[in-house]
Amino acid sequence: MAQPQQRRAQGVVRFHNFLPEGDSFLGDVLKGLARTQKTLPPKYFYDARGCELFERICELPEYYPTRTELAIMREHAGAMAKFLGPDCQLIELGSGSSRKTRILIEQLQPPLYVPIDIAGEALKAAAASLAQLFPWLNIIGVCADYTRPLTLPEFVGVPIRKKAVYFPGSTIGNFTPHEAIEFLQLVRRMVGTGGALLVGVDLKKDKKVLDAAYDDAAGVTAAFNLNLLARINRELGGDFQLRRFCHKAFYDEDKGWIEMHLESLAAQFVHVGGERLRFSQGETIHTEISCKYSVEEFRAVAHRAGFAPGQTWIDAANLFSVHGMIAV
Ligand code: TRP
Repeated sequence: MAQPQQRRAQGVVRFHNFLPEGDSFLGDVLKGLARTQKTLPPKYFYDARGCELFERICELPEYYPTRTELAIMREHAGAMAKFLGPDCQLIELGSGSSRKTRILIEQLQPPLYVPIDIAGEALKAAAASLAQLFPWLNIIGVCADYTRPLTLPEFVGVPIRKKAVYFPGSTIGNFTPHEAIEFLQLVRRMVGTGGALLVGVDLKKDKKVLDAAYDDAAGVTAAFNLNLLARINRELGGDFQLRRFCHKAFYDEDKGWIEMHLESLAAQFVHVGGERLRFSQGETIHTEISCKYSVEEFRAVAHRAGFAPGQTWIDAANLFSVHGMIAV
């Protein structure tokens, strides 16, 4: 690898907060819990405690996606950088700890990196360590809910040939296939014609492997799921008794997705924001799905959003895929 670090000027690091003023958390919680199938939006998983638990999920022996995707990145980041091309503005959605991105940045050497995450503190910490690692890199951190349409700040003074969105972690699987198409249409608009998408997608596989990945023996995923209720207690003055709920996660082979729920272990009432909510025994709050795709299935989804398949990188055990695509 060349070492332009020694020649390039010091990069600029900036942050923008695009989170709406005021609080939609209470409104979203009450709306979700008023539905027949109670539900809570997964974006609220990621408070400080949730981010910490999620980092631990990524290290679990049962949770193969993170380490598999990292291995694919280590092996193919050079080819991915070639696919994306020089002078790319690299935009990452749900950047979290930016661990996989480091591998890509090393190869791609982009003039500008725009990490977007809902977790502001995690975003700042990740940007700080990237700035240390790549002193020449310009970084614009954006704290935002990227599931909403978003206009990104421009950064004048750096030559940009194309925009590339990096969306690792199989986070695309946390949308239904229909939502994924709508979401990729937003991404398509973000990068413009000729722009690129590099997306990590978990592959369909044996139900036993999938079930274990989302319901680990150490109970970390259960703690992560239950933290949503703990967060409602902490921030909204709720009175959920965590012992009266349990984590349920299973792969639905017909739907092709993992469903995650919090199940009420008893008939009970819970109070949130002055409202009394009733749970019957066995009733669940749906908190997350994680769709699994074959290579062909995912290409069909991306195609419907205006992306043409370019290259796909897969590990030897066929667990995980990374797709490089171009907006047409
Ligand atoms: N994108 C990750 C996935 O679908 C997110 C994830 C992993 C997750 N484990 C989880 C989300 C447990 C909620 C709960 O695999």
